Parts: sequence; C-alpha cells; structure tokens
Amino acid sequence: MAVCMGLVTRLPLCAQGRGRFFDSLHRHLSSPGTAILKREEPPAGSAELGEEARAPQKTFSEVQKERHEQAQRSILISCPKKVPEKRLLKYLCQHGEITNHFFFESFGIHAVIEYSKKESIASLQDSTFIPYGETEFPIPFKSRFFNISLKNPSSQISDGTLVRCSDQSSPSNVDLMQMLCNAESVEGQINTLMRILQITEENIRLRYLTCSLIEDIAAAYFPACTIKPFGSSVNGFGKLGCDLDMFLDLDDIGKNSAVKVTGSFLMEYQVKNVSSERWATQKILSVIGECLDNFGPGCVSVQKILHARCPLVRFSHQPSGFQCDLTANNRIALKSSELLYIYGTLDSRVRALAFSVRCWARQQALTSSIPGAWLTNFSLTIMVIFFLQKRSPPIIPSLDYLKNLAGAEDKCIIEGNDCTFVSNLDRIKPSENTETLDILLCQFFEYFGNFAFNKNSINIRKGKEQNKPDSSPIHIQNPFEPALNVSRNVNENQLERFVHLARESAWILQQDDKIQPSKSRSHPWGLAALFLPSVSNKSKAKKPGKGPSNETIRKLLESIKADSTKRSTATREKRTTQS
Ligand code: GTP
Ligand code: MG
Repeated sequence: MAVCMGLVTRLPLCAQGRGRFFDSLHRHLSSPGTAILKREEPPAGSAELGEEARAPQKTFSEVQKERHEQAQRSILISCPKKVPEKRLLKYLCQHGEITNHFFFESFGIHAVIEYSKKESIASLQDSTFIPYGETEFPIPFKSRFFNISLKNPSSQISDGTLVRCSDQSSPSNVDLMQMLCNAESVEGQINTLMRILQITEENIRLRYLTCSLIEDIAAAYFPACTIKPFGSSVNGFGKLGCDLDMFLDLDDIGKNSAVKVTGSFLMEYQVKNVSSERWATQKILSVIGECLDNFGPGCVSVQKILHARCPLVRFSHQPSGFQCDLTANNRIALKSSELLYIYGTLDSRVRALAFSVRCWARQQALTSSIPGAWLTNFSLTIMVIFFLQKRSPPIIPSLDYLKNLAGAEDKCIIEGNDCTFVSNLDRIKPSENTETLDILLCQFFEYFGNFAFNKNSINIRKGKEQNKPDSSPIHIQNPFEPALNVSRNVNENQLERFVHLARESAWILQQDDKIQPSKSRSHPWGLAALFLPSVSNKSKAKKPGKGPSNETIRKLLESIKADSTKRSTATREKRTTQS
C-alpha cells in the first residue's frame, strides 16, 4: 500500500555540492547495499520519481543483519608501522578469499580484513600462536584481534607499496571554518560539513566489527546472544568521533527455547531466578564487564555503571578508538534509532538539517559528551524532525502516520509500549515540499527561537504541539514511552541559552552580508558565522564541557585573515608579474 504525501520534486542542490553530497550520502548510508542511495538520486532526466521507478529499499533490520554478518567474517589486525600491503594480503589469503579490507591509524596502524567465509577465520586462528613473555603471562583468549609483525623487516619493506590509511579523524576547528568559508552557498556549506564530519563507510564497518568482537566475549556465557549497535552509529546522524552505543540482545535465546516444545514432555532449562528484570540486567552486565576488563583484548578503562536508570558498562576500545557504552534490554532505544534512520532516509534534508543543528549546538557548547542539564543530540534531532513535520506541506510525516502504514510484520510491542511503524520505506511517498536547506536552517532557528516552551510540548507522534503535562522547562515527548520527557534533564538556564542562540542565529541568517561569501573570503559567513561565539553574550548560564574558547576563535580568525592576506598578496604579485 502506498500512501500519498504528494509527488516528489527534487530538492535543489547547487551543482557544485551535488556530487560530493551524493558521495557523502553513499558513503554514509548505503551499508552493504546501495538501495538507499537510489532514493536520493532520480533517474537521469526525471524530475519526478514515480513509485515504479524506485528500486526496492532495504529495511533497517535488513541493513543491520547484513552488517552484523559482514562483521562476523571480519578480523582486526595491529600491524607494524611500515607494512607492505600486497604481501600482507597475500599472506592472509592463505586462509581464504578476502572481499574487503582497509587500514586506519589509532594507537598504531590497524587493518580490518573481511573474508568471504567465516571458516577462513577459524583457519587463521588455528595457525596463530599465543605469545608467552618472560615476565608477563597472557590470558589465552583466542579473539579476532591479532598482532602481525614482519619476520625480517629490512628485507621486506622495500618490497611493495606501503599501506594507505583511511582517515577516521575530523579536521581541526580552524580547517573546518576555512573549508566552510570557501563554500559557495549556505547549502554548499552544509554539504561540506556532512562530507567532512559524517562517519565514513569504514568507520561504520569498524563499529559493527567492534560490537562483533564484544559479542564473542559475551557469547562465552550466552552463545546465541547478539551485540547490536544503536544510536548515532546506525541512525544516520553520526559524526566522526561519536560514542559507540551497543546493547546485548538476549531475546533470541528466549525465542529458541519457546519453539522447541514438542512431544509428550515439557523440557525447560534449569535457571536461576532473580526478583526483577533490572536485577537480571545488572547481574549480566556485571559479569560481562568483568570479562571485558579481565580478558577483552583492547578493552581498557572498564567502568560498571549499574545503578544508572539504564545500567551500563562503559569502556574504551583502544584499537578502534571508540568510547563504548554497553547496555542490555534496550530494545526501545534500538527502535528509536530505526525511527530516526527512517526519517533521515525519507528526505535528504532531514539528515542535512539535523547534522548542521547538532554541529551548531556543539560549537556553541549547548551540548556536551558529559551528561548534565543541557540538551542532548537525541533531543535536538527530535526537534528537527518535529520542525520538518510542521512545514507546509510537511517534509516528513508524523509517527502516527507511519504507524498507519505498518504491516502485520511491523507490529512491535516493547514492555507494553506500542513501537509499531512501517519499516518498508517504499510505502511512503516523498514530500512535495521544495524548500531549500538555506531557508530551512534559518526557519528552524526562527521557529524554536519563538516556540512557546512554557505551554507546549513537542510531539512527533502527532506532528503537532500538545499542552505541556508538567512544569519542566522543555517537554519533548518520548516517541515510544509517551509518559516520558526526552529532555527532562534540561534546566531553565540551558533552555534560555538555546532560545537566545537560536534567535541570534536566525538574525545572522537574515543579514545579506552573512549568507554569502565575501569577495576576500576573510569574514566567516553562513554556517561559519553561526559557529562563532555568541556576539551579545547575554546568556550567563553555565556552558557544558569546553566550548570554543575566545583564544581558539581569535587564532581561527587570525588564521583565516592570514590565509586570505596570503592569497591576495599572491594574486597581487601574479598581477604585477603579468602586467
Ligand atoms: P551522540 O551524541 O552522537 O552519541 O548521539 P546519540 O543519538 O547516539 O545519543 P546517545 O548516545 O545519548 O544515546 C543513544 C541512543 O539512545 C539515542 O540515539 C536514542 O535512541 C536513545 N536515547 C538517548 N537518550 C534518550 C532518552 O532520553 N530517551 C529515549 N527514549 N531514548 C534515548
Ligand atoms: Mg551515542
């Protein structure tokens, strides 16, 4: 069943940014398949994308399943600094065909190698030894994280090309501002921002592989468990360097035992019982936390935070460089990630706008990686979704609308909460709204700079504001647990800072000289201007974490100025030589 939101008209993208924008989308979204990209790219010469012209798109669960399986066929290797790529691959090919590989740098050079078959890993493990030192004793755990070294380094280095590493880091603030200033329009700046800061295809693979390596450890206790990534690693809004949220899913174990009830006897497992699900979760996470700490290769700084509202184990996975949060029984959060993924995939403007707003909030120190009384990226993303639902015509539909499109296979109740919505993106017709990103960004700030936070609640289920049920400064209804406020942590001061900065940003984007590059490119404009510290500095509220300091900004402006002076001197010199 296809339900109409109107015929699609392409979002105009400036010619200059278009190729890079699609590259970035492809890198970010397409996962093991490329179906999602097809939604963004119309067939050549067609302005309208009819239902019949679209290739079927993979659902979120299909993408997750494929990536999970791909990660199970992959290994991680710590390599010497100078390693000949071809020889290394040839060596590893002894165990089977390699379908994909890449190198990256994090505490040394590492390689991710994907075999075409899982059996190759078993063969590699059989031929790998555990190193016994003279003073230290190894815990003999055979994981999929290896060390490799050259037997005779000097003779082999000259033989073949050395590896090229895929970049997993974000540029410095100064470089970022310079790149933004060099764009041609605000929309071009947004595309640049996404291209350079979005998590890359390699980074996504590494995230799934890290989950898979942790799964191997958890599987020692729970053989059929899975560790699933959620949050910004999978919802399409991830920025390089974001944390890796993962959850231990034990549901399949329960399901398997339920189906094996046959014959005249009832067989069940002898199990230990505890008095609550929360206690069970705490016990399981506690044990897995111990395992990670004691024999998880590369897992360091393991902290068990079991008394939090959502118990978790936090640790650093050193080789990948990810800060990981492992939870259990967190299926609603995975469902929220799927919902965000669907909204982000429906229209390219959703991700672009949310990405810009999230980066703006971080630059303005409205958000932080430290928990506190400030807005979170999740809350900001819901605000962007709500804003886009409120456009005329709407750019994306309400959650109730997505629920009405759901088929029997989509029915999903978690802990008594109805989390049903359509998973098949092909059932949703795109919007006919043609507003550009320049307009939407400015309107977003205008809208929330004047939103009646004192009386209205933000509700993406209805796509309409509702009366606020309590006196919290800002109320964003949790899409799947309607009694909960996603932004309950935000205090009055933080809301005031947000509103003030939103108004100021709307004002900046309404100034003619601020929305286009100056000839010399010496003044931050558009997004770059929004990333500078607030001009009036009215807000006295405490800023979370470290915002861009005045010193950083001073250096940044000096650097931009110096660069443009250099350029104009060079141009002058060139002209003088020519004349
Ligand atoms: P980053 O800041 O890039 O890590 O964004 P994120 O989306 O990953 O946010 P975070 O790591 O804080 O949380 C991970 C996921 O947990 C989110 O994407 C949501 O799915 C879920 N989540 C976070 N906060 C809340 C909340 O207050 N309520 C609900 N229901 N889910 C939440
Ligand atoms: Mg996260």
